[in-house]
Amino acid sequence: MSKILDGKAVSESVKEQVALGVNELKKAGISVGLAVILVGNNPASKIYVANKKKACEATGIKSFEYILDENTTQDELISLINTLNAEKSVNGILCQLPLPPHINEQAVIEAISPDKDVDAFHISNVGRIMVGNFDFLPCTPAGIIEILDYYNIKIEGKNCVVIGRSNIVGKPMAMLLMHRNGTVTVCHSKTKNLADITKNADILISSVGKANFVTADMVKEGCVVIDVGMNRSEGKLCGDVCFEEVAAKAEYITPVPGGVGPMTIAILMKNTLTAAKKQNGR
Ligand code: GUN
Repeated sequence: MSKILDGKAVSESVKEQVALGVNELKKAGISVGLAVILVGNNPASKIYVANKKKACEATGIKSFEYILDENTTQDELISLINTLNAEKSVNGILCQLPLPPHINEQAVIEAISPDKDVDAFHISNVGRIMVGNFDFLPCTPAGIIEILDYYNIKIEGKNCVVIGRSNIVGKPMAMLLMHRNGTVTVCHSKTKNLADITKNADILISSVGKANFVTADMVKEGCVVIDVGMNRSEGKLCGDVCFEEVAAKAEYITPVPGGVGPMTIAILMKNTLTAAKKQNGR
């Protein structure tokens, strides 16, 4: 039976560090603020936004919430972002994705000032990550690296397989693993013989978004399995991985819930603190 990688515990320790940093700034008369924008009624997004608010409370970060109607236009949204870009008390801006289909996501992401882009989605931040000269790392991939570090799981020289090539998880995840000298393979919906590739993984990261996608026959004995999935199956929250059967083969595995999810939010808090420090010359 594998060891559980307890993302909840690791996230608490990250948030404690952030709270200390926020407190230091407070002593110098500087407050830290995060603006979160939600457009429409996506139920998963509403839960994420509520969790972000709770994490702000726990770390002493001031949370500014903008819950906008589904029919908000792209111009209205970008106009709000422009206002927040200029607002000194807002150090970080996050616009929850996905956005309704009539809004161009990339245009919205590019409207956020790179200095306040605590998601690290803006092309200038993506480019800086590519060359290894960055202020922020994207929250989910950085949270995964943080879990691996916390449990002393080495990346260097390991076969790392990432399933999924999204801009939010798969692509930046591959980049961060390469920065750590992992040997990285990125698989996706058009990959042939997926199981042949995943069976070679020392570290397998799944960000597919399909329940029960990763089965025991796809993994190597003694591997590390990181499950980024957030799916509903028979009304229950679950990841991409068939947990019981894969846990029986893996050395380490993240649960869902309580694995990657809490880390994403903890890194968001860390990025907001970093943004506040930089904006105040610290
Ligand atoms: N939707 C799902 N994950 C994320 C995230 O990390 N940031 C934003 N902005 N939207 C998301």
